[in-house]
Amino acid sequence: MFLGMETSMNILHPNLVLFFLRTFIFLLRASAESSLAEPRAPVNSVQAIFVFGDSTSDPGNNNYIRTPFKSDFAPYGRDLPDHVATGRFSNGRLSTDFIARYVGIKELVPPYLNSSLSIEELMTGVSFASAGSGYDPLTPTLSGVIPMSKQMDNFMQYKSRIAGTIGQEKTTELISKSVFIVSAGTNDFVVNYFTVPIRKKMYTIPQYQHFLVQNVHQFIKNLWDQGARKIAVVGVPPMGCLPIVITMASNNSISRRGCIESLSSVATDYNQLLQVNLKSLELSLQDQHTKIAYIDVYSPLHDMIQFARNSNYGFEHVNSGCCGTGYLETAFMCNPAAYVCSDASKYVFWDSIHPTEMTYYLIFKSLRSVIDYIIKD
Ligand SMILES: *[C@@H]1O[C@H](CO)[C@@H](O)[C@H](O)[C@H]1NC(C)=O
Ligand SMILES: *[C@@H]1O[C@H](CO)[C@@H](O)[C@H](O)[C@H]1NC(C)=O
Repeated sequence: MFLGMETSMNILHPNLVLFFLRTFIFLLRASAESSLAEPRAPVNSVQAIFVFGDSTSDPGNNNYIRTPFKSDFAPYGRDLPDHVATGRFSNGRLSTDFIARYVGIKELVPPYLNSSLSIEELMTGVSFASAGSGYDPLTPTLSGVIPMSKQMDNFMQYKSRIAGTIGQEKTTELISKSVFIVSAGTNDFVVNYFTVPIRKKMYTIPQYQHFLVQNVHQFIKNLWDQGARKIAVVGVPPMGCLPIVITMASNNSISRRGCIESLSSVATDYNQLLQVNLKSLELSLQDQHTKIAYIDVYSPLHDMIQFARNSNYGFEHVNSGCCGTGYLETAFMCNPAAYVCSDASKYVFWDSIHPTEMTYYLIFKSLRSVIDYIIKD
C-alpha cells in the first residue's frame, strides 16, 4: 500500500501539482469573495445612488464634523477591503453599499463630506447621512451631528456642483434616474424621546410617532421637489432588541436579556403609520415615474434574532455585540483597546447598537424586490 501510494505520487508531474494547487487556491478565494456578493439587479438605467439618514447609512460623514459619534478607528471597518476604519459603524459594508453593487453602480458609497472625491465618484452617488441624526430636529442637536435639513442643503449644493460640470439638463436626468435611500428614525426614539424628557413632555407616544412621520413626509416631498423619483424609505428596526436598549432596560441583569417588547411595539406602530403615509404620498404625486417604497427592516431583523441558529443565518449571538462586552460599547467606547470577537459573522450586532456586515447583507438580500421595483423605468 505504501509502495502503491509512492508510485501514484510519482506519476503526478510537478507542473500538474502546481496547476491543481493554483486552481484550488483560486476557487477558495473566489468562494470567499462571492459569499457576500452574488446577486445582481435586472438590467436598469440607474447611474447613481444617494443616501440620507443616520449611522445605518453614514459611510463616514461624521469624520469631518465635531461630534463624539464617530467610528473612524479600529476595530470599526475590520472586515472591509484593506481593513480601513472609514467611519462606517460596522465591521464591514452597510446595506446601502450592497445595494449600490447590486444595481451595478459601485462597491462602496462614499461620504459626501470627503472633499477629495473625483467627479466620477460624485456622479455615481454619495451618502449625506450622519450617524446620530434623526427626523426630529432635536435629535441631531443632542449629538452635534448633521440634521436632515442640512443633509438636504448638501444635496442641493451637490446638484449645483454637478450642474457646473455636466449642465443643468443632464443633472436633472441623472437625478431622476437615481436611487434614493432614506434611513433614520431609531435615534429619535432611543436617543431622544425615551432618554431626554423634552419631547415626552410635549407628545404622547402616538403623537410623537405622528410628528416623526410628518417630518419624513416633508423630507420625501422636498426630495421629490428636487427631482428625485426613485425613493426608498427605511422603517425602524425592533428597537427593543438593540443590545444597549436591553442593557438599559433590564436593571443590570445579565442573565435575562430578552428584547424589550414594549419598545419594539412602538417601532411596529411607527412603521405601520409610515408605510401608509408613503403609499398615500406616492399616489398623491400622480406621476407614473415616481416610485416611493417602504423598506421593512423590522421583519428580517426580528427573524434573524428569533431564528438566529437557523441555517439561513448561522448566528450564535443575538443580544450582545461583537465589540467589547457587547452590552454597552459603541462609538468611542468600541476602540482599539476593546476586546473584539474573532468571527463577527456569528453576531447579529457588531457593537451595542449597530448590525454586523453579515446582518446588513442579510437585510439587503431581504429587500431586493423593493429595489427591483424602484429601479424599473
Ligand atoms: C476621500 O476620497 C479619496 C478619493 O476617493 C480617497 O482616496 C480618500 O481615501 C478618501 N478619504 C478618506 C478619509 O476616506
Ligand atoms: C426594572 O425595575 C423596575 C423597578 O424596580 C421594574 O418596574 C421593571 O419591571 C424592571 N424591568 C425589568 C426588565 O425587569
